[in-house]
Amino acid sequence: MSKYNINNYPDKKGFFGQYGGCFLPPKMEKEFKKLDEFYQNIKNDAEFINELKYIRKHYQGRPTPITFARNLTEKYKGAAIYLKREDLNHTGAHKLNHAMAYALVAKKMGKTKIIADTGAGQHGVAMAAAAAYFGMECVIYMGEVDAKKESPNVDRMRLMGTKVVVVKDGHGKLIDAANASFAAYEKEVDKAFYPIGSVVGPAPIPQMVRDFQSIVGREAREQFLEITDGKLPNKVIVCVGGGSNAMGIFSGFLADDDIEIYAAEALGRLKNTKKNIVGEHAATATFGRKAIMSGFNSLALADKDGNPEPAYSVASGLDYPGFGPEQAFLKEIGRVKFEAINDDEAISAFYELSKLEGIIPALESAHAVALATKIAPKYPGQTILVNLSGRGDKDIDFILNNYNKLEK
Ligand SMILES: Cc1ncc(COP(=O)(O)O)c(C=O)c1O
Repeated sequence: MSKYNINNYPDKKGFFGQYGGCFLPPKMEKEFKKLDEFYQNIKNDAEFINELKYIRKHYQGRPTPITFARNLTEKYKGAAIYLKREDLNHTGAHKLNHAMAYALVAKKMGKTKIIADTGAGQHGVAMAAAAAYFGMECVIYMGEVDAKKESPNVDRMRLMGTKVVVVKDGHGKLIDAANASFAAYEKEVDKAFYPIGSVVGPAPIPQMVRDFQSIVGREAREQFLEITDGKLPNKVIVCVGGGSNAMGIFSGFLADDDIEIYAAEALGRLKNTKKNIVGEHAATATFGRKAIMSGFNSLALADKDGNPEPAYSVASGLDYPGFGPEQAFLKEIGRVKFEAINDDEAISAFYELSKLEGIIPALESAHAVALATKIAPKYPGQTILVNLSGRGDKDIDFILNNYNKLEK
């Protein structure tokens, strides 16, 4: 396989191979084109880059460290497992990496209001913090099911001055919140900025979010070389919802053909991948088909007419019936291997990492940890770098109320 050069993608129309693009009605297509032009001009501007560097260091608390998971490694007796600690990023997940950059772009475009949606609440919390930092108004749409499950994040957004709109339509999940927030944005395009929470959506969003997240990959590469006396990891493992934490860390390693890259997607309540039971999982790579959804072309859990099917995962941030176009392309060319991890495996990893390492992972990130512990025993002598995309504080109440495995 030839080297994957991230700078060659997307093409000028926002495509990664056959995936991507911007499929919107003319009025909204014009808005995304405007954003694209603005972004392509500003992304290499020295002032923009320096402002962002300042924010990363003095507000977000970057660089986040890499931690060697010694006890986890000893337990599985195989490859050494390292964690890139995005849980230590301010607000508790990688989402702040794109949120701060988005808000800086919005400010420079003269926008005064943020309208967005959130699943697990991490993107919402990150946008709320970014809006507070830049003194902007912020409205976040959240599905009713997610708002209940991730109630600490709803409180955090409100504390930071954001208005949270709870969406009862559909299944009360991320896709329903996304539909509602887009409709609200359409009414206020002149003053509002619409930051999508992952590498999904019409061009130029997948590229913008990937670029904003690439700080994770750049840092991780440098840090890993330092910790291991000049070696790169043999394997990189992430969880994938839309694909933003994945693209962040991938961007540091995709060009090295001998590094194997894995993505853990959510198998939800299914026990294996033999049979697709719609509504029981969010395994897009395993069961998805090509479809145009939410204004872009990618793989998605969709019916024959391209209508999204219900998705499910215990991790709200993975509970989405699709992923970004670059994920679909990387799957197609075989550069990233997708594996499905179910709820039980992720919940076990949630408890295990907490107990063995003193690090409570987000349920989303626990999918990546679970995959790492499945792969590690087969590769003694190798190294695995897991992107620990977020911390699990938001999930503690939900897990202890529904899956309590603590000794009484
Ligand atoms: C901690 C965490 N990790 C991962 C994800 C999944 O999103 P993505 O695939 O865009 O990184 C989310 C989404 O909310 C999240 O909160």
